[in-house]
Amino acid sequence: MDQLIENYPYLSYRNKKLYIREQLAEAIVKDKTTPMFIFLPTRFLNNIDFFEKALQKNLPNIFMSYAIKANYLGRVLSIAKTRDIGIEVMSLFEMKLAERAGYSWGKVIFNGPAKTAEELQYAISKGVGYINVDSLDELKLIAKIAETEQKIQPITIRIHPQFKDETEKRLLIRKNSKLGVDFTRGLKFFRFARDNQNLDPVGVHVHVGTNLTSHDFYDELLSFLNKYIIDLEKKDNIVIKQINLGGGLASKSTLDNKEFSLEKLGKQIAMNIEGVKDKLIIFEPGRYLIEDSFVALTKILRTKKTWGRKWAFTDIGANSLIPMRYSHYKALPVNDKGKDQYCNLGGPLCLPVDVISNEAVNFKLEEEDILIILNCGAYTLSMSEQFGYPRPAVYELNKEEELKLIKPADNLEKMVEEAF
Ligand SMILES: Cc1ncc(COP(=O)(O)O)c(C=O)c1O
Repeated sequence: MDQLIENYPYLSYRNKKLYIREQLAEAIVKDKTTPMFIFLPTRFLNNIDFFEKALQKNLPNIFMSYAIKANYLGRVLSIAKTRDIGIEVMSLFEMKLAERAGYSWGKVIFNGPAKTAEELQYAISKGVGYINVDSLDELKLIAKIAETEQKIQPITIRIHPQFKDETEKRLLIRKNSKLGVDFTRGLKFFRFARDNQNLDPVGVHVHVGTNLTSHDFYDELLSFLNKYIIDLEKKDNIVIKQINLGGGLASKSTLDNKEFSLEKLGKQIAMNIEGVKDKLIIFEPGRYLIEDSFVALTKILRTKKTWGRKWAFTDIGANSLIPMRYSHYKALPVNDKGKDQYCNLGGPLCLPVDVISNEAVNFKLEEEDILIILNCGAYTLSMSEQFGYPRPAVYELNKEEELKLIKPADNLEKMVEEAF
């Protein structure tokens, strides 16, 4: 009988052998080199659709924009594009990727604390949808470029809201963050934009965390935003038409395990923001959509015991599975040989931080065994390094059950050439 893996509907054990969709995982690696990543576009599309539908239950007007930084592979961008969503970029490189994937410029949101004049010029001349402004000098530069381009540039201001101290402590982006501007100073930005004929201050932007799994702080954030927006309209005659809540949610599989629902988040927004039906609520999810849409297959290279502890070393390391505080890599055997003593998993790098998961595994494993690593899609390929090793190949397993190479592994000889 199939044994499904909770929250990962594309994985199952049949007679103790792991299948990815309908493919025997062992068979996938038979004639291929490990480590490798596998992209599951159906999971990615499911996450996009689920995100949108769940929020639309309580919000009539939403705009979802995939954060490229989470994973910029061309196939990922093209697959997202089939759903007519927007795209959030932070650099000229990311703008060019969005352009190449065919996103219309009106659906591009440009973020970042230190956008260059070249990047702003490029974005404005192309007709970028929105620029999230981070500093007053940036705003002035946008106004100047928009004037020469004879455009009225829609902008949103990235503010840091007021939170209670204990809320602030739980957030990633706090008062000491380099990102955004405090809400009081933000008012000056709004007034400058209001008084400039080449700027249209359409909205307010906030992004305060990553891997968020709780509804706790949203009422506080949203009621603050509601008051801020009402004051802007009453006191400064600035009508806010958009609220951009950024990204920052944990992945779909993580949230499926928690007391968190997007539907409830939509309800919180609808209840706190007056006149929500006349406003566009923007989201910029990255991790939520992509983290569980990639897995990796890796081989055990070696095992050893030291200080009474067992270690197994995989051929994928922290150069590909970036050890972020918020990553959720989880290892499972592709051939389930039963339980064993706990074993730590390390990568092949000669670095102490190269540990795949802080959760030791307790299944039987030995050299040459293959493991699957879950939750590999967010901030891995986009941040990966050629640190000691070539970066792995990436395959796509589509709904027709075809496994296609979408990005070859780095070429070792070329890496040597490039170093000289
Ligand atoms: C402004 C902004 N939007 C969206 C994102 C995407 O965040 P996540 O992948 O956590 O959803 C980030 C990430 O840093 C961000 O800074």
